[in-house]
Amino acid sequence: MSRMHLVHMFFHSPITHTALSWADEEDGHLAGMGSYAYWQDIARTLERGRFDAAFFADTPAASDQYKGGPETPLEHGVVWPTHDPFPLAAVMTAATQHLGIGLTLSVTGNPPYLAHRRLSTLDYLSGGRIGWNVVTGHMRSEHRAIGQGLVAHDERYDMADEFMEICYALWDAYGPGALPMDKVSGVMADPDKIRKLSHKGKYFTCDAVPATLPSPQGRPVIFQAGSSGRGMEFAVKHAEAIFAIQPHLAAMRRFREKFDGVATAAGKDPVGVLFGLQYVIGSTDEEAQARLERLRSRIPLDAGLSRLSAPLGVDCSTLDPDQPLEDVPTQASRGMAEALSQMAGDGKKVTVRDAAIQMGLSVGLPQVVGSPERIADELERYWRDSGGLGFNLSAPTKPGMITEFVDHVVPILQQRGLVRGEYEGHTLRDNITS
Ligand SMILES: Cc1cc2nc3c(=O)[nH]c(=O)nc-3n(C[C@H](O)[C@H](O)[C@H](O)COP(=O)(O)O)c2cc1C
Repeated sequence: MSRMHLVHMFFHSPITHTALSWADEEDGHLAGMGSYAYWQDIARTLERGRFDAAFFADTPAASDQYKGGPETPLEHGVVWPTHDPFPLAAVMTAATQHLGIGLTLSVTGNPPYLAHRRLSTLDYLSGGRIGWNVVTGHMRSEHRAIGQGLVAHDERYDMADEFMEICYALWDAYGPGALPMDKVSGVMADPDKIRKLSHKGKYFTCDAVPATLPSPQGRPVIFQAGSSGRGMEFAVKHAEAIFAIQPHLAAMRRFREKFDGVATAAGKDPVGVLFGLQYVIGSTDEEAQARLERLRSRIPLDAGLSRLSAPLGVDCSTLDPDQPLEDVPTQASRGMAEALSQMAGDGKKVTVRDAAIQMGLSVGLPQVVGSPERIADELERYWRDSGGLGFNLSAPTKPGMITEFVDHVVPILQQRGLVRGEYEGHTLRDNITS
């Protein structure tokens, strides 16, 4: 029977999706995130809840779209600091036996050989529990930080195709019997059975043999999150599961159907979609609503506007906060602008201010708010009606809300047979594909 798969989303940063959550009275994330023990506790909690994986989104430089600089993200801690998530994969898999870790790495700024080496070392060390969210780096600031220009949107995906070709060749380089590791003869590897890569392409050159021993799953699980036409084409070619953010149930269903269509047209099986969802839990619906209101009430407009600037590709400091969002021309994410424009759902015009606060609160992730029972009901409804593989969950405050989810929502979902009671296998691929 197919089950709902659960992944939990993080940045290695003081917040995930809620601006100023680090300053909430119930949040322990900022104080904890500098310690190994904190992350290991989170990993054990997620494993107790039989999550497939913890997923680390990553944007390696502070955003500089708003007011032309990084000042607002710095002032309010909006995904700044932005620490490297890779060491956390070692720390968190060391404390667990089954939990997978999804890592984000961009194909711009990292040579494919070094990307393969970093990912494969962690996959080897963790016994095959690493996933790779392949991104193409859409933020201007991360390219500026390493002295590169931003490559045009579709061309970034062409680069990514070539990047993947190199990684596959390195992962697939071992023939049968390539690794005798024989102490008597002293032969570690048979060089004739390891294919040497000699790649000279449009974007990359790589002359190498693999840097690492293969992991039990051979290569990391490939995740992807593109939603443009070219992004979907890339995703159906490479990804084993897709991350998507859609504003409501109907949009989720449409997205999943469109994706299935792209896969079918490419002669592929449909790829499972994990939809982003933010949960705000309380022991009662009223308590959850009060938590939400407390978080909402302290989001500075500036912080929300700075978050809105990136997907609109517009410096929102130049806009009147009370103008209708639909009047703002955007060359960036029309999908996101449209989704935000429709968020009121009752025909009421959404202003730039409304959209900024919503961006500050959940960055476009739909929210499920309430008691454990209500959240379980909502997850079931979303899962059944969207036809998705499951959810990429985000908690506004941490770590307490994660523990509440695992202790109070997961048992309800397990009782209904919707999520696993035990892990099916040992590798991330075993679990995410079962
Ligand atoms: C759930 C989710 C997580 C994402 N995580 C990251 C990330 O960590 N880093 C990043 O640079 N982009 C991230 N993205 C952005 C995508 O990789 C992609 O650039 C974006 O969706 C636009 O793709 P498109 O132009 O093909 O639609 C994420 C997108 C989604 C939906």
